[in-house]
Amino acid sequence: MSDHFSRRSFVKASAAFASAAMPALSQSNQVSVGVLGAGGRGYYLTERLYAGNRNVKVLSVCDTYQGNLNRIKDRVQTMGKNTPEATADYTKVLSNRDVQMVIIATPEHLHHRMTLDAIAAGKHIYVEKPLAHTIEEGEEILKAAQAAKVKIQVGTQNRSNSLYGMAKQMISQGIIGECHYVRAFWYRNALPGGAPAWRYTIPKDAAPENTDWQRFLGEAPKRDFDKQRYYQWRLYWDYSGGISTDLLVHQTDITNFVLGKTTPDTCVASGGIYRWTDANDDREVPDTMSAIYEYGDKFHLNYSCYFGNDNFGYGEQFCGNEGTVEVLNRSILRFTPQKFNGQPFANRKDAVVELPGNDNLAVEAHIRNLVEAVQGKAQLIAPVEVGQQAAISGHMATLALRNKKMVRWDGRSRKAIIG
Ligand SMILES: NC(=O)c1ccc[n+]([C@@H]2O[C@H](COP(=O)([O-])OP(=O)(O)OC[C@H]3O[C@@H](n4cnc5c(N)ncnc54)[C@H](O)[C@@H]3O)[C@@H](O)[C@H]2O)c1
Repeated sequence: MSDHFSRRSFVKASAAFASAAMPALSQSNQVSVGVLGAGGRGYYLTERLYAGNRNVKVLSVCDTYQGNLNRIKDRVQTMGKNTPEATADYTKVLSNRDVQMVIIATPEHLHHRMTLDAIAAGKHIYVEKPLAHTIEEGEEILKAAQAAKVKIQVGTQNRSNSLYGMAKQMISQGIIGECHYVRAFWYRNALPGGAPAWRYTIPKDAAPENTDWQRFLGEAPKRDFDKQRYYQWRLYWDYSGGISTDLLVHQTDITNFVLGKTTPDTCVASGGIYRWTDANDDREVPDTMSAIYEYGDKFHLNYSCYFGNDNFGYGEQFCGNEGTVEVLNRSILRFTPQKFNGQPFANRKDAVVELPGNDNLAVEAHIRNLVEAVQGKAQLIAPVEVGQQAAISGHMATLALRNKKMVRWDGRSRKAIIG
């Protein structure tokens, strides 16, 4: 892959025509889409885009690994019945005036530049979580977004999961009483002798000839081609915040959604690499982590994540003085009343709702929400401000863990203060 691009000239050119460039909806209200990054998530999001919407067309796809580029092109041909433009240069997708909306599902460190460039090009955006790799980058996106007319949905799809909507309604109607405490957790494990956590399979043919390493690095520190860093980027600080920004942000975000909160005041965190310690494993991000948040209104969030036992799975437990609402594995909602002297409070009954596979529907609904917002039919459920709130809590945890100090969020200066 040898085509070069000048980012500066691209941004200059796009800024000039950004407002005029925003393509009008066709008479059929069809939304034309570009996909930037078609690995595990970008491929899945494209499938969910088709599954959840009739009126969409993928016009252009971009990936810097030729294997994934071919795969997404094939999928669009099968599902959309058209042949999309395919490129390793995302600015080509952004320069396509017919593309109205882009899905950004590249590694975390690339979200910032791609989102800013997409805003400058007048595209509506679905950007995967976390919004950006640092708080400062997220703030830059926030500013650019506020000055632009484009719609930006952040990929915290739990907000579109009906079970969390139900939990929000039940709790706001008072079913658990006062809630000052949430316990959230995500536990994973791998078979003995199996692939270590986040060591995803590297394609057999992966090589510099079919993998555009410079474009993968983007603004990250320069270094030589490294397959592990490219295909297992979650394990390295240059490209990822690890547990904090990959997993935790979903759970702080949904706690904010269910309880109507925004950013925490403080965070302490600790953990390390305790499970995956093979001498040949050069991972940098922890596999074991706890973070504790205090919010201004007498609210405490206790988070834990461990990659060496998955007995408790994934979930959030909203603990009130009259009962508990839990959402487990994104597919089960359980209400348990508090019992006093053996009697359930106010004679409330235990209740369970099980919706297997509900996360797929949530992702479809989340993308559809953006498509409908672009068509002028809906308000965004996870706009960029909300995505930045979730990202801030994730970055606070990373800063607390790496500096071994409490981190405070200063809402006035919009900065994280360490120590
Ligand atoms: N919301 C969720 O539940 C959820 C789940 C999984 C992943 N994600 C997010 O999705 C994003 C992607 O994660 P993933 O698991 O798909 O990773 P991945 O490694 O499977 O895919 C990333 C893709 O981006 C491509 N890429 C790298 N640099 C590029 C560039 N400069 N231009 C174009 N393409 C480039 C890679 O070749 C790869 O195909 C991350 O932000 C991740 O946090 C979200």
